[in-house]
Amino acid sequence: MPEPETEDAEIRWGILGAGGIAGKFATDLIRTPGNALAAVGARQGERAAGFAARFGAPRSYGNYRQLVDDPDLDAIYIATTHPGHREQALMAIEADKAVLIEKPVCLNAADAREVFAAAAAARVFAMEAMWMRTNPLIRKAQELVAGSAIGELVSVRAEMGLGLPFDATHRLYDLANGGGALLDLGIYPVTFGWIFLGPPPSVSVTGSLAPTGCDATVAMQWSYPDGRDAQLWCSAPVKAPYRALVVGTEGWIRPEGRFYRPTALTVMIGGLESRIDDPLGSDAGGYGPEIAEVARCLRAGLTESPLIPAADTIAILELLDRARAELGVRYPGE
Ligand SMILES: NC(=O)c1ccc[n+]([C@@H]2O[C@H](COP(=O)([O-])OP(=O)(O)OC[C@H]3O[C@@H](n4cnc5c(N)ncnc54)[C@H](OP(=O)(O)O)[C@@H]3O)[C@@H](O)[C@H]2O)c1
Repeated sequence: MPEPETEDAEIRWGILGAGGIAGKFATDLIRTPGNALAAVGARQGERAAGFAARFGAPRSYGNYRQLVDDPDLDAIYIATTHPGHREQALMAIEADKAVLIEKPVCLNAADAREVFAAAAAARVFAMEAMWMRTNPLIRKAQELVAGSAIGELVSVRAEMGLGLPFDATHRLYDLANGGGALLDLGIYPVTFGWIFLGPPPSVSVTGSLAPTGCDATVAMQWSYPDGRDAQLWCSAPVKAPYRALVVGTEGWIRPEGRFYRPTALTVMIGGLESRIDDPLGSDAGGYGPEIAEVARCLRAGLTESPLIPAADTIAILELLDRARAELGVRYPGE
């Protein structure tokens, strides 16, 4: 992996794919110190050029191969829909570029294992873009729980309902484009449960499918031998608040706003409520901390981030694989 020349060298990013999340990421990237948007690649040259003009990227390419072969890039952010992630990540790793891969890293755990193994073999940095895990308030909540601020952990709940009416042509309902609530939405509640409770020994899954065969609404119950539990829920068609609660024997922590990018934490300890405000401020999209974390890792010569270990990314995909299998959801080629 090309190492930045000095400890504070600017990290030169290429964005692969010029869709919705690529634009949100680019907005935060260009205002994260020590990072620069150097190039963008899309399937069509005009689309890439338009994106580059919008965000001030000096170079644009009409295919992904040319982007990853650009010698003046340190990192590639893969912002396409999930069925393409495996092949695109392998291509970038082969071109000796660090990769930040949108969630889910791949359609299934087997593909994710292959990507992280290739990165490890090439000594190239790779990380799932699970930005929630780099968010300062989420990290603060983890710190409070680890320090027993709310007593012994008892239960975690997290849920999100997008409220997108069924539309067979939308990527969320299109199996060929990695559709389904679990991989797009459920990965947040599941990761939220995981960061507080760790791997669940016992999981119950129930859910419903859309007419295209994608999972539409899914509920999970995790149970631990010591009595701890988690209730996790996601839905593509049902609109419901994106909220979560971490409950302990002495109190609870509630992220305010969207739980994966909170605007504050409300903390109740022994009947006394307090509030911790968002250090990022309301005009930050929330992607800055993951961008800064990748930059920090590259400057330190790391091949993975301790905040989002590859082992967790793979194990969470294994859970999602099993849940999909129970619901009867299979992607083409699986
Ligand atoms: N972290 C977050 O907050 C967040 C939020 C939303 C989505 N996501 C994740 O980001 C990824 C993209 O989601 P999005 O909402 O940005 O989707 P989107 O707006 O529909 O954009 C899809 C992107 O995928 C690319 N693509 C490549 N092959 C494609 C194909 N066969 N069909 C459709 N698109 C194709 C397109 O590339 P070209 O530009 O080259 O045409 C486009 O840039 C998904 O994995 C999703 O789970 C993350």
